[in-house]
Order: sequence, then C-alpha cells, then structure tokens
Amino acid sequence: MAGRFITLEGGEGVGKSTQIRRLAEALSERGIDVVTTREPGGTEGAEAIRGLLMSGGQDRWNDATEALLFAAARADHVAKLIRPSVTAGKWILCDRFVDSTRAYQGGAGGISDADILDLHRVGSGGLLPDRTIVLDLPVEEGARRAAARSAETDRMGAKCADYYNRVAARFRDLAAKEPERFRIIDASGTLDDVTMRILDALADLF
Ligand SMILES: Nc1ncnc2c1ncn2[C@@H]1O[C@H](COP(=O)(O)OP(=O)(O)O)[C@@H](O)[C@H]1O
Ligand SMILES: [Mg+2]
Repeated sequence: MAGRFITLEGGEGVGKSTQIRRLAEALSERGIDVVTTREPGGTEGAEAIRGLLMSGGQDRWNDATEALLFAAARADHVAKLIRPSVTAGKWILCDRFVDSTRAYQGGAGGISDADILDLHRVGSGGLLPDRTIVLDLPVEEGARRAAARSAETDRMGAKCADYYNRVAARFRDLAAKEPERFRIIDASGTLDDVTMRILDALADLF
C-alpha cells in the first residue's frame, strides 16, 4: 500500500498534538502503519536545531535566521524520516511543516513566500504533504486552551494577539490557494467531534 504524508497545522493551542495522537490511534485500528512526528524536530539533528529555536530571548534570532534554521531542521527530518517512511508504505502524521514557516516567518514575519519555498526546495526537494489539515479556532480560544495546558510559553509562543491573527489569516490564504491539498477544519467542540471531522477530510486518501 502507498504511504501518505499528512500534516496538521494551525496556531498554538488549537489541538494539533492532541489530534495527532487520536488520529494515530484511529488509523492504527484500521491496520495502517503510522508514524507520528513533529516539526521542528523528528530526528536527532532536527531536535537539536529545535532546541536553538525554542529557547532563549525573543530577539535571539531574526525572521531570516529562523527561516533558515527551520529549513535546515526540515531537510534532515525529510531525508532521514519522512521520505523513507512514506517509501516504506507508512502514513506519516506530522505536527506542523513548511506551511507553519510560511504562516509565521512569512505571513506574520517579513520573509516572502517565494523565499521560504526556495529554501524548502534546496533543503527538502520541495516535498509537500498529500493532505494538510488546518485546525481553525478563534485566536482567543486557542490562547485559553494553551494557557490551561501549561503556564510557561517557549520562544515561539510569546507573541501578541495581532501576530497570531496574521498567522491564522495566512493559513486561510494558503488553504484557499491549494484547495486540493488543504482542508480547513473547525477545531471547536469535543475531541471526538474534531477527530471525526479530520477523518472525514482524509477519507479520499484511504
Ligand atoms: N476540542 C478540545 N476541547 C477542549 N480542549 C481541547 C480540545 N482539543 C485540545 N484541547 C486541550 O487544549 C490544549 C492544547 O491542545 P494541544 O493539542 O496541545 O494544542 P497544539 O498542539 O495545537 O498547541 C490541551 O490542554 C488540550 O488537552
Ligand atoms: Mg502541540
């Protein structure tokens, strides 16, 4: 059976990590060989780069340096985990991917989408997911969920509401431009509601 590469995207606190776990269970029950992973990270080298990105002060890196570090981490992740797993017939569920860089460093930061895609081409051969699920939730609700989850925020999770509104708007723009790949999913309601919506949005891939 052919492998699949599926990414979950959206702002902080929308439920990506929760739903990846639930999705992995649901797919495993269907007999699918599932690998869950996250970006930045997923391999030893990429997790080391993640440490550089997630810790330290707000001004440790500028938008350009961040975009380069994300591209470098992703290159290792794609080469060592994602491509080999898909080739082996597995379903890869990845918590964030290049579209997060496009939304954060592009939409809310100052890097052009063309430049981010150039870095992605150089680093990762331009690999794109078979399906990208964008979990959509009002920014305040995501912030409430994230705050209830933990008191501490990392370097990436400490920006203003206006910034997160721009991120959410960019995710919607990206989805509108590539309707075949993207599905925008309402992330409100119960955990089960959201999992069912995501499974529906993957139905054509089974
Ligand atoms: N549908 C939901 N309703 C209520 N709380 C939720 C829902 N989905 C996730 N949560 C909770 O919100 C918090 C953030 O979820 P998480 O999966 O960590 O988000 P993300 O990975 O997108 O930042 C967690 O405490 C999680 O248990
Ligand atoms: Mg998460």
